[in-house]
Amino acid sequence: MEKERTFVMIKPDAVQRGLIGEIISRFERRGIKIVAMKMLKVDRDLAEKHYAVHRGKPFFEPTVRYITSSPVVAMVLEGYRVIEMVRKMVGKTDPQDAEPGTIRGDLAQFIGRNLVHASDSKETADFEINLWFSKDELCDYKRIDEDWLTE
Ligand code: CMP
Repeated sequence: MEKERTFVMIKPDAVQRGLIGEIISRFERRGIKIVAMKMLKVDRDLAEKHYAVHRGKPFFEPTVRYITSSPVVAMVLEGYRVIEMVRKMVGKTDPQDAEPGTIRGDLAQFIGRNLVHASDSKETADFEINLWFSKDELCDYKRIDEDWLTE
């Protein structure tokens, strides 16, 4: 079974609202493996690189300010078709459009405070994992439930 990896950032509003555990436990309960994780205060350089595709858009500056305002938790998640699965669990970018049952649909209300970021494609995931983590921060290991999650 081919495994994918994706990048997820628990944003400053989620950290400030005490939602780190709630968000991580949703991924864990789904059977998704955490292969890297760290808390950090994001500097402007990293924020601008992360959101480089949005440079020039009206929300670029406010988003960079938001992401650099307080610590975030960055992680790499691994699993079968995990990129699409995590995007579905996170919900639409604007929490007003996000379905109940998703992280944003259950816990957020405003696009500029949408709690979490998740890579939207394989290419983006590779870029973001590489931007946020060094190779030696990624842990290769087998979780005890892996044989029971897929065939
Ligand atoms: P994220 O999934 O991290 O990708 C881009 C981020 O920019 C988005 O979540 C929001 O945090 C922020 N943002 C603010 N306003 C908008 C907007 N109008 N469209 C898209 N993203 C926005």
